[in-house]
Amino acid sequence: MKQLPTTENGLHGTIVVPGDKSISHRALMFGAMANGTTKVLRRLDSADVSSTISVLRSLGAKITELDNDITEVIGTGVSGLKDPTVDLDMGNSGTSTRLLTGLITGAGLQATITGDSSLSKRPMDRVIDPLSEIGGKFTSDHGHLPLTVQKSTLSSTIKQTLHVGSAQVKSAILLAGLAAGSDTFVTDPFHTRNHTEQMLPKFGVKVDIKGDTIHIPANQNLQPAEVEVPGDISSAAYWIVAGLITPNSELTIKNVGVNPTRIGLLTVLQQMGGDITINQKDDIGEPIADITVKTSQLHGVVVGGDIIPSLIDEIPMIVLAATQATGTTVIKDAAELKVKETDRIETVQEELNKLNADVTPTEDGFIIKGGKQLVAQDTHVSGHADHRIAMMLSIAALVTNGTIILDDDESVKISYPTFFNNLEGIV
Ligand code: S3P
Repeated sequence: MKQLPTTENGLHGTIVVPGDKSISHRALMFGAMANGTTKVLRRLDSADVSSTISVLRSLGAKITELDNDITEVIGTGVSGLKDPTVDLDMGNSGTSTRLLTGLITGAGLQATITGDSSLSKRPMDRVIDPLSEIGGKFTSDHGHLPLTVQKSTLSSTIKQTLHVGSAQVKSAILLAGLAAGSDTFVTDPFHTRNHTEQMLPKFGVKVDIKGDTIHIPANQNLQPAEVEVPGDISSAAYWIVAGLITPNSELTIKNVGVNPTRIGLLTVLQQMGGDITINQKDDIGEPIADITVKTSQLHGVVVGGDIIPSLIDEIPMIVLAATQATGTTVIKDAAELKVKETDRIETVQEELNKLNADVTPTEDGFIIKGGKQLVAQDTHVSGHADHRIAMMLSIAALVTNGTIILDDDESVKISYPTFFNNLEGIV
């Protein structure tokens, strides 16, 4: 339980957000699949990434923290990975679960995968079904955890097209094919985040991309690599929106990953009239930038279609921004929100409406009537144990009249353990 900070003079300062969660998971997994010593610089240190680390250790990788924010992964190569002797607890982490299910299946291992109560409600048939089609053998609780991967031999040629706009599903199939040594083609008409196919060449894997199809040729071994992790744009999102909607504010967020498959939030906020300066810097395998935002009068927009996968995790913050904009914002084609850590269509509208917002849930998004002063009528809000909802509400508190108590501040440790330190540094 935490009383959320407020501000009188606006938000000012510079923030360095922690490492990207998607990239941290992948760098550690690929390090475990390589034979030798991989170094991962500035990875995210959070509960979700800890789930990946503990599972990789159970599969045989040696993972150690060195000085200077470096994590060393001594991988065994795929053929050296072993059947775990314990159940693999994925905690709250969907990315760990789905990508590692692919890896374990392709490597021909046997394992039982479990998770917390939120993860156990999330659909795993989206990876079980395509992996079954290529030879994977599973038992599960009607497409949910606990899930047992039986020893499987995958087809020598894999051709799959995504039916859902999910980078986790795409990566699960790619990792399964790579681990099995299959000739692997995955077509992604949704253009989901591309960190897997972008990072594998660093580990010596040949990847051919033609149009929407990613091809990983057969029988490749991963070589150890050095990976530098950029700041997470999904964590920067809290400060970007906070700076735009809080009066008298100017914030700079340093070294943020601005991979084109991740920056839909910036596009939408600029369309809404947000004063955002993106200073592109070096490319560290992923493009990075310093982002400066200033208080802006936003206006309503329609958000939907192809842009949705590039901002799916940031939608709670777009809804918050829309409550402070003039006019109406419509967010559509985002039914995937229902299968995140919570049903985010439900939890976002429930909590923001407690603060006097005008947010109407729809089948695949929201209709938000902007321009309403947020007010703490009932002082308690809840993130429903969902990290992104808790952090969105903490930013909402900055533009709410009255004091708010967040009932479950602990959930920020899933993706951003230093969130409240950063918040206290700018108010
Ligand atoms: C992720 C992909 C997205 C995203 C999640 C991280 C990834 O999930 O919501 O936070 O690292 O691949 P989906 O692939 O299910 O959309």
